Amino acid sequence: MAKIDNKTTSKIVVQYGAKPELLVQILQTIVMRFGWIPEDTIRQLADELNLSRADVHGVVQYYQDFRTEEPGKHIVKICQAEACQAMGSRALTDHAEKTLAMNLHDTKDDITLEPVYCLGNCACSPAVMVNGRTYGRVDAARFDELLAGMRSATP
Ligand code: FES
Repeated sequence: MAKIDNKTTSKIVVQYGAKPELLVQILQTIVMRFGWIPEDTIRQLADELNLSRADVHGVVQYYQDFRTEEPGKHIVKICQAEACQAMGSRALTDHAEKTLAMNLHDTKDDITLEPVYCLGNCACSPAVMVNGRTYGRVDAARFDELLAGMRSATP
C-alpha cells in the first residue's frame, strides 16, 4: 500500500467536490488507496469538509472496514457470521490465532488478522479472505496451505 500524504487526500476530497455528504465515499476511496485512515487524515478531512473531527470519527468508527491503524502487508479475514460459525469458523479462528500467535484485530509480522461478518460465500462455509480473495470450506489444513501460499508469494 502507498503511504498516505496530504496532497493525495486533498485531491480525493476535490474529486468528490469537497462535499461533506460524500464523506463515506471519500473514506472508501482513501481506504482503497492507502488501506487505513490515520488520525492526521481524519483531522485533514474535518478541515477540508468543514466538519468536526467528531463527525468524521463517528463515520470512521461506524464502518468495520475503515481501519485507523496501519494494516500489515497481508490481510487475512475469517468469517464469524452465523453460517460460518455453524460450520466451524470458531475452531478455525482458534487455529489461526494459535498458528499466527496473534488474536483477531492484531497485526504482526506484516499480517493483519481480522473478523468479517459474511463474505457472501455462506454455501461454502467456513469462508476466509486472504488479500482480497475469498476461499470456501477452509479447515485448519487448508488455512495453513493458504498461509504458506501467501508467504511464498511475498516478494
Ligand atoms: S456467513 Fe460466512 S460467508 Fe456468509
